[in-house]
Amino acid sequence: MSDFPTIAFSDTAAHAALKGLAASKQWDMRQRFTAESDRFEKFSISSSELLFDYSKNLVDDEVMTQLIASAEQCKLSSAIEAMFTGQHINQTEDRAVMHTALRAKSPSFVDGRDVTPDVQAVLTSMKSYTERVLSGEHLGATGKKLTTVVNIGIGGSDLGPVMVTEALKSFQVGLKPYFVSNVDGADLTYVLADVDPETTLFIVVSKTFTTQETLTNAHAARTWLVEKLGEEAVASHFAAVSTNLDGVKDFGILEANTFGFWSWVGGRYSLWGAVGLSIALSCGWNNFQALLDGANAADEHFRRTSFEKNVPVIMALLGIWYRNYLNFGSYAIIPYSQDLHRFPAYLQQADMESNGKYVDRNGQAVDFETGPVIWGEPGTNGQHAFFQLLHQGTEKIPVDFIAFAKATSPYQDHHDKLLANCLAQSEAMMNGKTEDEVVKEMQAAGVSEASIDQLKAYRTFEGNRPSTTILYKELTPFNIGHMIALYEHKIFVQGVMWNVFSFDQWGVELGKALAKRILPVVKKEKSGDFDASTSALIEKIHQFIDE
Ligand code: F6P
Repeated sequence: MSDFPTIAFSDTAAHAALKGLAASKQWDMRQRFTAESDRFEKFSISSSELLFDYSKNLVDDEVMTQLIASAEQCKLSSAIEAMFTGQHINQTEDRAVMHTALRAKSPSFVDGRDVTPDVQAVLTSMKSYTERVLSGEHLGATGKKLTTVVNIGIGGSDLGPVMVTEALKSFQVGLKPYFVSNVDGADLTYVLADVDPETTLFIVVSKTFTTQETLTNAHAARTWLVEKLGEEAVASHFAAVSTNLDGVKDFGILEANTFGFWSWVGGRYSLWGAVGLSIALSCGWNNFQALLDGANAADEHFRRTSFEKNVPVIMALLGIWYRNYLNFGSYAIIPYSQDLHRFPAYLQQADMESNGKYVDRNGQAVDFETGPVIWGEPGTNGQHAFFQLLHQGTEKIPVDFIAFAKATSPYQDHHDKLLANCLAQSEAMMNGKTEDEVVKEMQAAGVSEASIDQLKAYRTFEGNRPSTTILYKELTPFNIGHMIALYEHKIFVQGVMWNVFSFDQWGVELGKALAKRILPVVKKEKSGDFDASTSALIEKIHQFIDE
């Protein structure tokens, strides 16, 4: 067991002060920007590649001071050190949490042992495999070069790689990536219809190598390949990534094509090692290495920077302020980048599987809210879908706007418009539009006074809706790695302050076990004793199928 702190934000001295501030503050953001000439300088953090602008949030000096005091009183610094030094902070599974070791540049210890040589050994074999596949030294069974990679995995064994390969689409130099995750056979069917068995490599990615969806898809893909090219093709067309090397062997994948990782890497934090093999195969090794370097730079920033200038800490504190003091129930992530279209989905797992917990680290139910609903879509598409609710809905939803100053496409005009829209939305959310402004605007447009009276309320925006803008210089593998790691650490800080165990996921187990019990009944192999609703649904499924 580690000496990880167990103090929730609600047990700190700062809590009462923050409650008082939440109740007493009036947030007129226009007025604040006018009154505080240094507001942007105070509430932004910049480096050569990043401008993190949190000045459009509903905070001021007093709030930030108390939030930082709260983090200190939760003993956040010791929690950070406990993670980086390999203590078993995932106590319900008795494991260290060391995804940072996968991208570390100095020794990282787990149970007193430097794990860097093990990490480097796997990275070296991934690099050599990637180079052999990309150069054509490792060929398919019929002697053709492999041109396509199909990653079969789900959750952390899918979302990280798919999100990053999409994000780095403009850097693709190698295999064309496909992903199969859903146990809905439609997923596999569409991918198999698109790929050529002679030139396709399947990577079965599963930390446990027991996950129903992944094994079902992997067995079906194997059968498909064997039907097309024969049993011996499996050796050159299948690779695996897992901590369960016996499971991989039983499946029939060669040891030489198997890449391991460790129990101290959580599935949703695993894209940095062997789970990222599809990233390396599609983007090439140098880009994969740059991704790790970016994440490592964020690790160093997180570990060594004072809380006032620490980006993940500030991100986490803003989230706590909104969730626990201003009572906002969800948080939107809106990348103004088509390349990042899977980032909100990735973050849903990273954040909600980590902090969607109601039992604290002392085994007691918490009496405050923990992880919010995380959601989002890329801009500008979201503007034409759910932004109405962001601007005029009844609940305030804080937004992270993510943008890159330079375009990845050759269409500069598109990119200028993309950026203008991103900035416009955060400005509109913050400033809104007063009734007075609406009336003047309508009068200037020659609208009748009767129509103005009828319409002005609908056209008024209250504003004071918070957002943070995360602006990178350009979309590079380094910056993508950096950004993902910032969010990983934000999640960690919030878990510490909510006093929950962020690195287990017991909540997903019950449904898995029940599905196993229901399956033979759905297949009509057995009868089962379920609640009336479940029984009726099963009966109806059988009836519909038989009709
Ligand atoms: O069901 C949740 C989960 O356990 C995730 O935490 C994990 O990323 C996913 O399933 C896949 O697990 P595995 O990599 O073991 O197949």
